[in-house]
Amino acid sequence: MAEQIHISKDLTKKEKYEALYSQLEVLLNVETDIVANMANLAAALKEVFDFFWVGFYVVKNDELVLAPFQGPVACTRIRFGKGVCGTSWEREQAIVVPDVEQFSGHIACSSLSRSEIVVPVIKDDKVVAILDVDSNKLDAFDNEDAQYLEKIVSLLKF
Ligand code: SME
Repeated sequence: MAEQIHISKDLTKKEKYEALYSQLEVLLNVETDIVANMANLAAALKEVFDFFWVGFYVVKNDELVLAPFQGPVACTRIRFGKGVCGTSWEREQAIVVPDVEQFSGHIACSSLSRSEIVVPVIKDDKVVAILDVDSNKLDAFDNEDAQYLEKIVSLLKF
């Protein structure tokens, strides 16, 4: 039987992240394939928080290329320094965007996306991928999301 994520809807955001981290630690540990693990991580986040779009872009040569995700079809390639994703790659830092219309250079893969958070995945001091999460509500993310998402993506062994 496939592994499952069990997280009560009644928990606070912090409690959900804590429970999700513990369950993902087990789930991702039993599989070594990075694509399989990115796929399950994205699916788990989408399931628990019902975000509009959750997914990865991986660094390939000088671009970010779309990788496992959950949600509507999305842009496939993003250049270094472009959009929220390319800017997070360039700064090697998480970026919280409360209103995508206020982020100069934001790349709109869907007009339904209103706010966004992007977290870099860093290995050996280099960005190897980014996790992008979009919400159809304004101001859906804060620094607490950034901290937990950074912790969660650190479970991935690139
Ligand atoms: N909005 C992102 C592009 C990726 S999609 O949101 C899935 C950006 O500005 O980089």
